Amino acid sequence: MILVTGGAGYIGSHCVLALQSSGYDVVVFDNLEKGHLEIVNTLKVKFIQDDLKNLAGIDGVFERYKIDAVIHCAAHIEVGESVINPQKYYYNNVYGTLNLLNAMIKHNSHKLIFSSTAAMYGEPQHARVDENHPQNPINPYGRSKLMTENILDDYDRAYGLKSVRFRYFNAAGADAHARTGEWHEPETHLIPNILKSTFGGGTTFEVYGEDYDTKDGTCVRDYVDVEDLAAAHVLGLEYLVNGGQTDCFNLGTNQGHSVKEIYAACERITQKHIPVKTGSRRAGDPASLVADNSKAKTVLGWSPRKSLIDTISTAYAWEKLLQSGSINA
Ligand SMILES: NC(=O)c1ccc[n+]([C@@H]2O[C@H](COP(=O)([O-])OP(=O)(O)OC[C@H]3O[C@@H](n4cnc5c(N)ncnc54)[C@H](O)[C@@H]3O)[C@@H](O)[C@H]2O)c1
Repeated sequence: MILVTGGAGYIGSHCVLALQSSGYDVVVFDNLEKGHLEIVNTLKVKFIQDDLKNLAGIDGVFERYKIDAVIHCAAHIEVGESVINPQKYYYNNVYGTLNLLNAMIKHNSHKLIFSSTAAMYGEPQHARVDENHPQNPINPYGRSKLMTENILDDYDRAYGLKSVRFRYFNAAGADAHARTGEWHEPETHLIPNILKSTFGGGTTFEVYGEDYDTKDGTCVRDYVDVEDLAAAHVLGLEYLVNGGQTDCFNLGTNQGHSVKEIYAACERITQKHIPVKTGSRRAGDPASLVADNSKAKTVLGWSPRKSLIDTISTAYAWEKLLQSGSINA
C-alpha cells in the first residue's frame, strides 16, 4: 500500500492517478484544508481525512495499513503567506513532516518521496540550476522545505529511512481526462490565473514587471507538466524499491518560458484576447529559474513528455470544468 499525503490536492491527486494506473493500491491522507473531497471521490481512492499535526492520526494509518512507501505532498505552499505567517509554515511543513517520519520509523516503513521545491535554491546563479546549486531559500516556505531535506538526511543516517526529494520547478497542466487539475484557493500560479481571467467577461491580467534582464523583459520560468511530475513519482518509487539511496532530483523541462510567451500561448489555445496591464515587480521574484534535469534523466530514466501547448490545453479543459460548476462531491 502506498500512502499519499496531500492526495486531495493538485500534485498529490495526479500522483494517485499515476500510481493507480501502474497497479499500486493507494491510501490518501489529507486534512482537506486546501484539498477537495470532490477529487478524492472522483479518484475512487481510500481516504483518511486527518491532519499531519495530529500524531495519533497519522500513526493510526500505519496501524491500519502496511505502508510500503510514502509520497509526501502535504504542505502549505503560498510563498507570500509564509513571509507574513512563518509559524504556520514551520508548524505544518516541518512539525507535520516530523510526525509522519516518526510514524514511519515506528512502523518500519522506510521509503519516502518528498515534494521539495526549486524555491530552495534561492536566487539562481546559473542559467540552468542543477542539484549542486547553493541552497539559499529566500522565504520561510522555501526554508521549511530545505529544513525537511536536512532532516531527511539525518533520518537516513540514524534510522535508515531512504528518501527521494523531488525539487519541482513550476508545476502546470491537468490530468488529460480532466479527473483532476489545479484548484488552489487563492490561486497564485500564472497559467491558471491567466486562464481564469478569460471567464466571466474577462478581467485584466497583471504582469509583475517587464524590466527584467530576460528575452522580453518578463520573468522566465520552467513549466513542468503535472502528469510528467506524477510519472516521476512512480519512477522514484521503483528506484527506492530497487535499493536506491537517498537522493535529490530536479523536476523541470530545461526550458524557460517568459510570462509574455505563456500569455501568448494561452491566447492561442483559448482563442480569446486576454487584456493585460503592466504591474510592478514582486519582491523575491528571480528574473529566471530554469532546471537542469539531467540527473533525473540519467538516474531515474525520467523525461518530461508534454509540450507547453499540451500543458496549457489540459489546464484550460480543467478550468472550463471548474468554471462551469460541474465538479460535484
Ligand atoms: N504547485 C507547484 O508548482 C509546486 C512547486 C514546488 C513544490 N510544490 C510542493 O508540492 C506539494 C503539493 O503542492 P500542490 O500544488 O499540490 O498543493 P495543494 O495545496 O494543492 O496540495 C497540498 C495538499 O496537502 C494538504 N495538506 C496540507 N497540510 C496538511 C496537513 N498538515 N495534514 C494533512 N493534509 C495537509 C492540503 O489539504 C492539500 O490537499 C507541496 O508540498 C508543495 O510545497 C508544489
